[in-house]
Amino acid sequence: MTTGNHHSSPATVSVLGLGLMGRALAHALLRAGHRVTVWNRTPSKADALVADGALLAPSAGDALRSADLTILCLTDDEAVRSLLGQDGVDLRGTTLVNLTSGSSAQARETARWAERRGARYLDGAIMAVPPAIGTADAVILHSGPRTAFEEHSPTLAALGTATYLGEDPGLASLYDAAGLTMMWSVLNAWLHGTAMLRTAGVDAASFAPFAQQIAVGVAGWLPGYAEQVDGGSFPAEVSALETDARAMSHLLDESEALGVSTELPRLFKALADRAVAAGHGSEQYPVLIEEFGRPTP
Ligand SMILES: NC(=O)c1ccc[n+]([C@@H]2O[C@H](COP(=O)([O-])OP(=O)(O)OC[C@H]3O[C@@H](n4cnc5c(N)ncnc54)[C@H](OP(=O)(O)O)[C@@H]3O)[C@@H](O)[C@H]2O)c1
Repeated sequence: MTTGNHHSSPATVSVLGLGLMGRALAHALLRAGHRVTVWNRTPSKADALVADGALLAPSAGDALRSADLTILCLTDDEAVRSLLGQDGVDLRGTTLVNLTSGSSAQARETARWAERRGARYLDGAIMAVPPAIGTADAVILHSGPRTAFEEHSPTLAALGTATYLGEDPGLASLYDAAGLTMMWSVLNAWLHGTAMLRTAGVDAASFAPFAQQIAVGVAGWLPGYAEQVDGGSFPAEVSALETDARAMSHLLDESEALGVSTELPRLFKALADRAVAAGHGSEQYPVLIEEFGRPTP
């Protein structure tokens, strides 16, 4: 993972797609001193940007022609392909950074599609909301040709913390999805714990600091557990999976008795029970990677 440098030199950048996110991207580029050309299907969304010094291109093809770098930020990949596939859009010699959300398969497909038409294509995923764009808090993931990222990282750094993940254009979307599963897992676990404690009159604010402590503690285990996953060996150094599976039964029983949702504990236990049945009970928790790494039975 590489982070782009912040020594911005003025470039000519086009931004196609001026929704909530596209406008934030274009404003950040203007603030950083770049020459910015914009285009949007509904041109009125460019008004504030034009007032701030952006040039409104009459067509997407014109916007592409005038730029060292073109940033795309549309609803979805279908919109990107239909826009760039129009007559009058010539991708030869262009460099595209597609910050539209999508799947890794779509990113790889759009990369091949754009490269066949003569473009250099970087895919991207924005891990931020529009108000954070232009600050270091806005992490923006990129994948695709390293040379294209390195050449344009001074410009991309105007949008946030520009991070490069590798040549495979699908990586940015994959990291995006992997980040979402982390986020929702932590939030759902906290909400389940909160629901249990509320039955005893403990409010969410009282539980939050303890929950935070657990989350931070568990996060600290990840590098060591990652070594086990990557090495394919899971010696029980601190706890065996069968011990964890017994604690899961307790969590499930407690949830049932309290009358709160049992969906999360049932999921935990089903995964662990399968691994124990497959003979992994005496190994450590990360052996569950084998359950996560195959389709749900
Ligand atoms: N907003 C966020 O917090 C956030 C965070 C991370 C990632 N993202 C991603 O950023 C992308 C844009 O999000 P947004 O919030 O800016 O959405 P938005 O406000 O709904 O804007 C969508 C943009 O796509 C354009 N568009 C849609 N279909 C089109 C088509 N067929 N041809 C040409 N233009 C088309 C729209 O043009 P019109 O103005 O003419 O309708 C508009 O400029 C999405 O992929 C989203 O997942 C957003």
